[in-house]
Amino acid sequence: MRKKFLAGLLVTAMVASMTACGSDPTANNGGSSDKASSGDSGKKKVGISMPTKSLERWNRDGSYLEEQFKKEGYDVEITYSDNDTDQQVNDIQNMISDNVDILVVGAIDGDTLSTVLADAKDQNIPVISYDRLIMNTDAISYYVSFDNYKVGQLQGQYIVDTLKLDGSKKKYNMEITAGDPADNNATFFYNGAMDTLKKYIDNGTIKIVSKQQDFESVATPQWSTDEALNRMQNILSSYYADGKNQLDIALCSNDSTALGVTQAIESDYAGKNTPLITGQDGDVANLKNILDGKQAMTVYKAVANEAVVTLELVKSVLNGETPDESLTKKFDCECSYDTDSYDNGTGKIPSYLLTPEVITKDNYKEKLVDTGYYKEGSDGYLQAIE
Ligand code: BGC
Repeated sequence: MRKKFLAGLLVTAMVASMTACGSDPTANNGGSSDKASSGDSGKKKVGISMPTKSLERWNRDGSYLEEQFKKEGYDVEITYSDNDTDQQVNDIQNMISDNVDILVVGAIDGDTLSTVLADAKDQNIPVISYDRLIMNTDAISYYVSFDNYKVGQLQGQYIVDTLKLDGSKKKYNMEITAGDPADNNATFFYNGAMDTLKKYIDNGTIKIVSKQQDFESVATPQWSTDEALNRMQNILSSYYADGKNQLDIALCSNDSTALGVTQAIESDYAGKNTPLITGQDGDVANLKNILDGKQAMTVYKAVANEAVVTLELVKSVLNGETPDESLTKKFDCECSYDTDSYDNGTGKIPSYLLTPEVITKDNYKEKLVDTGYYKEGSDGYLQAIE
């Protein structure tokens, strides 16, 4: 099912790299389609609801989406809901009142949007679940995301390979920091990593000293850096104080939590070693930590490509088509069509899943700078491209 495309020519600008993932300039756009539009200008209007500006990646998602849709001639209404679920319901309600033609929603809490999305459905407004699966509503037409389970697998496999855990006589102590229980992705990341590490935990190569292992015990509400920091400080003082134990691995599901865990280790860890810390997203602060040797890796998800896939999907839906696997042919980036993995409680949601990649000190130039996703500042650290 997965389609591997040409990596394409290396591009030096973000916009160029987004085009590389497959905007088809000849396709119908917001201005040219026959479907009756409710926007004043006669253009189709896309309502984009993002969860928050307080976590770096959603700013990137929001700007890429807005830029892509505007470039194709759509009107765009975009909101960020400050991680407040009531606010997100209001924001989406307002977009429905403003007669958007389609909604693209990155949910704060996958379980709180059923009522407002039922309104959208009543008004024949299709809904695309963006990055996070929206649960328990039959209003969702499609899901666009990355292979979330694979993100966790990449983190787990990185630990296995880097510490050479196969056949290892040495034992390693690990602590786990997972994501927000309200985010359906969080368990996929956790399960991907834990399924990969299970055999090493079972055979004693990895020991979780705090015994905090099940998802509920290690979850981080709202993916908060401060929550992750506080919890790790408590773990360090309870189980790792005075060199009692050495912390070897901090499995963190993403960069916002890895940031808190790194800060806790810097301020409160008594040991002399540098624990291996994982992450996800390629947030600028974490990329700095990777270059400084404080965080070992991050799993990068090219959200610019996620925006391009979303654009093509929206175009197809608004043209009255029923997108399926053939849509993936339009993308120069690796993207699979999956009708099996994501069930939102009302049935399986057809999903377009992009492929995440491991980023380390050794490959960041090739994967992030040469591709035009980030630029190198004069201080040698990476900066987002505006
Ligand atoms: C996203 C991650 C992100 C996390 C916190 C998840 O739903 O898939 O990329 O790190 O939310 O923003």
